[in-house]
Order: sequence, then C-alpha cells, then structure tokens
Amino acid sequence: MSAETIEARQGDVRYPVRVGPGAPEAAAALAAGRDRVALVSCARVLRTPYGKQVAAALRKAGNLALVHRLPDGEKGKTLAELERSAVRLLRAGASRRSLVVGLGGGAVTDAAGFLAATFMRGVDWAAVPTTLLAMVDAAIGGKTAVNVPLAKNAVGAFHPPVAVLADPASLATLPARELRSGFGEVLKYAALRPDLLGEAATQARAGAISGALLTACARAKVEVVARDPLEKGERKLLNLGHTYGHGVEAAGGFSRYTHGEAVAVGLCFAFRLAARLGRLGPLAVAELEEAVRGAGLPVRVPPALARRARGLMATDKKRTAAGLRWVLPRAEGAGWKVDWDVTAGEDAIRATVAEIGGGAA
Ligand SMILES: NC(=O)c1ccc[n+]([C@@H]2O[C@H](COP(=O)([O-])OP(=O)(O)OC[C@H]3O[C@@H](n4cnc5c(N)ncnc54)[C@H](O)[C@@H]3O)[C@@H](O)[C@H]2O)c1
Ligand SMILES: [Zn+2]
Repeated sequence: MSAETIEARQGDVRYPVRVGPGAPEAAAALAAGRDRVALVSCARVLRTPYGKQVAAALRKAGNLALVHRLPDGEKGKTLAELERSAVRLLRAGASRRSLVVGLGGGAVTDAAGFLAATFMRGVDWAAVPTTLLAMVDAAIGGKTAVNVPLAKNAVGAFHPPVAVLADPASLATLPARELRSGFGEVLKYAALRPDLLGEAATQARAGAISGALLTACARAKVEVVARDPLEKGERKLLNLGHTYGHGVEAAGGFSRYTHGEAVAVGLCFAFRLAARLGRLGPLAVAELEEAVRGAGLPVRVPPALARRARGLMATDKKRTAAGLRWVLPRAEGAGWKVDWDVTAGEDAIRATVAEIGGGAA
C-alpha cells in the first residue's frame, strides 16, 4: 500500500494521521528545524527492526539528543517516570522548540504525550504507534495520561500530537496476543460502523490487518474526535464496549485480560444488554459475537468474574451522578446505529451479567 494521510482536527489544531509505509523517514522529516529531538520508547520496541529503523532515521536527521527508554507497558506510565523523563530531557538540553517522538504501544504514546504536554508547559510531540491498539485508538485524539496507584489515566491532559505516523510494518514483531487485543478495538469500530463488520471479522480471523481497514478505523476515530474534541457528546461512542469492559479489566486485576480482550467481552455485553432492552434483534448479537469469537477473543467470562466486573464498572470515571450511562446499539434498517447516554435498569444489567458469566470462554 502507499501511505494515506487523514487530516485530524481538534478545535483549532490540525495534524496528519499518516497510515502506511515509510514512517521512519516521515518521523525524520518532522525533526527538521527542531533544536533537539527526544525519542521516548521502551527497550522492547527499540530492539525490533522497526524500532531500530526509526531511531536510525532520527539519528540521520542530525538532532537526536536523547533516546529515553521507559519501563515496559503500564510501568512506564507513572508520575515517577514522568519526572525521570523530564530530568533526562533537561539534561539533553531540550527546550520549548524541541520535539518528543513517542515510539511504542499506547502506554508509551500516552506517557510520551503527557511528558510533551507538561514539559516546559508544553512541547510538540509526534506519535509513532507500534501496536494495533495504539494505531487505531491510543495515538489518535490527543488524550495523554499517566496512572496513579488508585486509578489508570487519572492524571493527564488533552495535548494533540503534531503528527501520527502509523506504519503497518511495525506490527510484524507484535506478539499474537497483542495483535488480537488490537482487533478488540477494531471490532469496536466495526460495531460502530456495521458496514465494516464483515471485512473486520475476516481479517481478525486471519490475524492480519490491511492498510485499508487500519485507515478506516483511524478515520472513524478522527471523525468522531473532530466533532467532539472534549468528549462532551458524540465522542462517548468510542466507549462502546468499554463500560462493562473496564469492569472486566479491573476484575481481572489488569493482568488476566488485556484491554482489547476486555473490550471484546464488553462489546458482547453491550449487544446483549441492548437486545434485552428490546433495542436490537438476536441476529445482530449473533453476528457480533461470531466476529469476536472468530478473532480468538473472549465472548464470556467465568461467572464470579462477571459479577465482580459489574461492581467494578461503578468506579468508571465516566459514570455520572445519575447512574451509569451506556453506549448501546439500536436496530435501524438492515443494521444498527449506536447511541450514547442510554440508561438501563438494574434487572436488565443483572440478567446480562448472568449471560456473560455463562461460561469460561
Ligand atoms: N490515549 C488514549 O486515547 C488511549 C486509548 C486507548 C488506550 N490507551 C492506553 O494505551 C495503553 C495500551 O496500549 P497497548 O495495547 O498498545 O499496550 P502497550 O503499550 O502496553 O504495549 C503492549 C506490549 O507490546 C509491546 N510492543 C509494542 N509494540 C511492539 C512491537 N511492534 N513489537 C513487539 N512488541 C511491541 C510493548 O513493549 C508492550 O510490552 C493503555 O495504557 C491505555 O490506557 C490510551
Ligand atoms: Zn479501548
């Protein structure tokens, strides 16, 4: 494929989301005119051929002042690591004219983005996502954050990158489970845009994503974010599958299920809850679950975990005082549409929890 560029817009800010080969060179081009460039990544990604290519391209650009390795995954998303990163930037002579390049999965792009949002009250950053999840979700939309012991992403900022450079070549080294997990989010977009579902299900089953589908998912996120940059309304659609999904993630101690796996269960939950509320027919539920199952993602969780997840969604930060607000599909024509801010009665939720906890899948 050749690279495709989508223009992302958030308020007055515009930035390209480039999907396709050649991201290392595109990153190097962004380095031009900067006094310093800091590459923020993690050891695992920097060891991959793609990681080496990005580092080499930036080195060739001539102003790479720092390669900073964060601890892997969520361990790199802490305030302590933010402080360590900021000190390293200062020691490397970074200024407000410097560029931070975040190379890695969503954990790295979240942490590097928040570093850029706060270092000297804000410097530019570019996101170079290397997981499927980060390409279609985390790196797009300008949300950056770190965790605190009580809650994930509790401290963060909206700080859009100057560019997102998603190169499918980087996915070659991604562990199979991480790739599947990314398909959890891809299926979320397909559930939001049912016309994508057939193709997404086929590719999820095959375990390989096309440039066209990657672009379609990235575009779906870009368009929603453009219409609602601060998550006051429509952007809530992107939380489809996440209300119960977050509960599942928490009930599994954030280790038993990856984010995408939990979202997959959450999607099944949302579709089943919608059916129970009379919003959707059984065929739509079956179609969705078939896609999730085909992707090798869970459609059920053990009963005790399903119940624990229900209790834990209540601590979701998207909860409003009036109770949980759901993102749920509603039958329309041959497919469905998705609404946000839907309420659901306790009985319907309880019954759906029992269904989702109906097996150990
Ligand atoms: N900002 C947002 O809008 C947003 C949205 C969704 C998720 N997120 C965040 O994203 C994070 C999850 O991101 P993730 O799923 O990408 O996980 P991750 O960043 O933890 O990466 C998963 C693992 O894959 C490794 N890895 C990454 N790229 C690789 C590659 N190309 N080859 C080999 N290994 C590679 C990483 O080192 C890590 O061990 C969470 O912290 C979540 O909160 C943010
Ligand atoms: Zn998600």
